[in-house]
Amino acid sequence: MTSPKLNIVPKFTSFSKGAAYVVGVVTKSEKPVLAQTPIELASIEQVDLSNLGIKATAESTARLAAPNGAIYLLVGLGNKPLDASTLRALGGVAARSLTDVKEIVFGLPTEDKEQTEALLEGALLGRYQFGTYRGTNKIPANVNAKIIAISEHKPTNASLARIEIIAASVAATQDLVNTPANDLYPQSLAAAIQKAAKGTGVTVEIWDEKRLAADGFGGILGVGQGSSRPPRLVRVEYKPKNAKAHIALVGKGITFDTGGLSIKPAASMVGMKYDMTGAATVGNAVLAIARLQLPVRVTAWMCIAENMVSGTSTRPTDVIKIRNGKTVEVVNTDAEGRLVLADGLSIASESKPDLIVDVATLTGAASIALGNRYTGLMGHGVGVEKLQAAAATAGELVWHMPLPADLRVSLNSDIADIANAKFGATGGMLLGGLFLQEFIGKKAKGDEPIDWAHLDIAPTANNDLAPWGYTGKGATGVMLRTLVALAESYS
Ligand code: BES
Ligand code: ZN
Ligand code: ZN
Repeated sequence: MTSPKLNIVPKFTSFSKGAAYVVGVVTKSEKPVLAQTPIELASIEQVDLSNLGIKATAESTARLAAPNGAIYLLVGLGNKPLDASTLRALGGVAARSLTDVKEIVFGLPTEDKEQTEALLEGALLGRYQFGTYRGTNKIPANVNAKIIAISEHKPTNASLARIEIIAASVAATQDLVNTPANDLYPQSLAAAIQKAAKGTGVTVEIWDEKRLAADGFGGILGVGQGSSRPPRLVRVEYKPKNAKAHIALVGKGITFDTGGLSIKPAASMVGMKYDMTGAATVGNAVLAIARLQLPVRVTAWMCIAENMVSGTSTRPTDVIKIRNGKTVEVVNTDAEGRLVLADGLSIASESKPDLIVDVATLTGAASIALGNRYTGLMGHGVGVEKLQAAAATAGELVWHMPLPADLRVSLNSDIADIANAKFGATGGMLLGGLFLQEFIGKKAKGDEPIDWAHLDIAPTANNDLAPWGYTGKGATGVMLRTLVALAESYS
């Protein structure tokens, strides 16, 4: 987790060999032209950019030779306002196309410190690459490359350190999620977070299968019982003395989802190593919040199991008992995320936190409804508005979906308290949310449920379409920055 060095300089001095100098492109009289920049442009000022195929549109880039063995990277500034979100994306576009370069110097217009921070954050996020499993076809890994912004709007050293912590935590999440399921299974995921927590002041406690049985975690055990690699529950807790609030995070950690006996078709199973993204995200969010020393108690519950097919798998229509005593008829073994989360939400409720947030690659229906850039957000109490505000601060996209109580009848079971799914039902994302809502406990006083937000990241956890902004292919680490912003909103 070495993170690249960030730097701010007030003005351009000279070109250094091998470095890339990033200059914007805008449209003037319907032609692409160079945007205002502090970078010296003498050698390219006269070039007709239309001949180079570069456009002013977002995502458009081109390289040109610069003096002294350096290069220019031209990037289209697009047609959105040049705000923090746009600059974060531009930083990412540039970094994604400069993975072979050891120094990147940005000469893009910024209006304040926040914009400079966003640009640098985007560059750090965009340069992420996962090379662990390349054999002969190694990718360049310039993890130590310098990233420099030329700007009068200099963030404080503390802000720069914050960006490095956040980007490293997103990368750590991406590394876990990109790791294939032959190496990443319940025990190894639990061990990985325990190892990462060393020296952070965060406590990690792991429930093995025996303790899960003794403590009544029938959801996690039921989902994991078909695998030769037994399930785990991991509590990751940061509890500073000056805590102003307590947030509980619950993450879906299915290290591989075959669907179980309600088996997935072959094509749908590809991508199911990503089904532990929620758990990796909440675990790493706690580590980030601890490293930032925010005055908030945060407890993450990573609910980890491998959903496999075998003679010991849960059968469709088996009934299991969740930690809070409710019984569930498992009509569809492929709706397994909600079963492990039911246990997680139950135990998270026991300590009466101020807010519970769960993060899960829960439903394919969320992607059908929202495409692949918006995370589905549901909840009650202050959950929805808290998460909307945090996501806006972080620059991540969420969309508020309803939890229509009328749909709850679809989950009625003839013999248990609730069924986990209903064949043929529509509104799959909402039914997932309604199911989870049943496992949120009550506030310490009165009869109201604890404030809660549910993030369905099935659309956004993994990018298998074209890269965009700072988002490359594969694991995105989505919502980690939103969870950090959420904790910051309490401090
Ligand atoms: N892990 C899947 C959801 C998923 C699908 C995530 C595609 C990412 C991409 C989840 O466990 C699942 O299979 N959900 C079912 C729910 C249904 C059986 C009620 C689904 O979406 O079909
Ligand atoms: Zn499933
Ligand atoms: Zn799943």
